[in-house]
Amino acid sequence: MKSLFSEVQVGRYTLSNRMVMAPMTRSRSDDAGVPSELVASYYAQRASAGLIISEGVFPVALGKGYIRTPGIETTQQVAAWKKVTDAVHARGGRIFMQLMHCGRVSHPSLLPDGAQPQAPSAIKAAGQTYTGTGLQDFVIPHALTIAEIAEVVEGYRQSARRAIAAGFDGVELHAASGYLPEQFLSTGSNQRNDQYGGSVENRTRFVLEVLAAMVNEVGSDRVGIKISPEMNFNDIVDANPQETYTYLVKQLRDLQLAYLHVALFGAKFDYHGALRPLFDGSYLIGSGQTKESAESLINEGKADAAVFGSTFLANPDLPERFRVGAELNTPDKNTFYAPGAEGYIDYPTLSQEA
Ligand SMILES: Cc1cc2nc3c(=O)[nH]c(=O)nc-3n(C[C@H](O)[C@H](O)[C@H](O)COP(=O)(O)O)c2cc1C
Repeated sequence: MKSLFSEVQVGRYTLSNRMVMAPMTRSRSDDAGVPSELVASYYAQRASAGLIISEGVFPVALGKGYIRTPGIETTQQVAAWKKVTDAVHARGGRIFMQLMHCGRVSHPSLLPDGAQPQAPSAIKAAGQTYTGTGLQDFVIPHALTIAEIAEVVEGYRQSARRAIAAGFDGVELHAASGYLPEQFLSTGSNQRNDQYGGSVENRTRFVLEVLAAMVNEVGSDRVGIKISPEMNFNDIVDANPQETYTYLVKQLRDLQLAYLHVALFGAKFDYHGALRPLFDGSYLIGSGQTKESAESLINEGKADAAVFGSTFLANPDLPERFRVGAELNTPDKNTFYAPGAEGYIDYPTLSQEA
């Protein structure tokens, strides 16, 4: 019988269980985007997940969107990530890297030479972002030219290659949460009138081109995508999200991706019911999952695996805690993005508690 604790095939890998650690930005890297020594410990502690998806990593420097976030562009970044993947593999774990380009919700203070953030259209997001000098308003972004879009796609392709070189088992495209790929998907942020804007075919073109580049580079059985239809974050608005995501997921069929990761935050429409039958690979459900909700999704065949965010953050041995029905540690929001070891690698396991 399928349970949280049974094996599952995801792309080319047989995962030892169906509990996936969600991608979570933790801001423990230096200003050059190089993960600190703590990062290897943090992920290794959580290697009993069937699969770890790394925090969002910028594929190119212009994709950085938050202070102390890591990249996968320079040899130093690749070398530091190799220590992370070695530590996870030494404990028998599997880890994919999430590629996250923040697009218009970045800030010049985070970008090379104070560059303007990149976006499909020169439309400022409402709201503010946390920079090195505190909260700052989002700025009017630079609308990418067709030639620049090709460069961004190439950046993702090369970063996928570098992620594999750094020992990652695969790569996930972050197309959720209002970052660059979702800015292309959504009518509120994409008002182009060339082949990348307007119709749903055109708005999905960027995401499909990026995925094709990643697949060509590392193989479809090592590529996944995360989407979050109707997530109300980073001022992302789409006139017809049901049409957008249904169309997008139908197009994914040809790419034969390892998995589709869907995180819903209060959407009223049954996206899981609509999207899962359209997708042939593994279907991962995230957001607000508990042991009980995940077990029933898997028992009923509604998902192949469940993704846990803040619960995994606070419980390095989450699969063991679920297995024995133990109490869970509570995540401390104050240290989610704070530098240092506190609230990062000091959440106790059951054996440490005992
Ligand atoms: C501290 C923190 C950082 C996050 N950073 C990312 C990220 O880098 N990329 C991403 O796709 N989602 C990110 N998320 C969202 C999680 O992946 C997940 O979708 C969300 O937390 C809902 O799952 P949960 O209810 O199990 O926590 C983050 C969440 C948290 C709590």
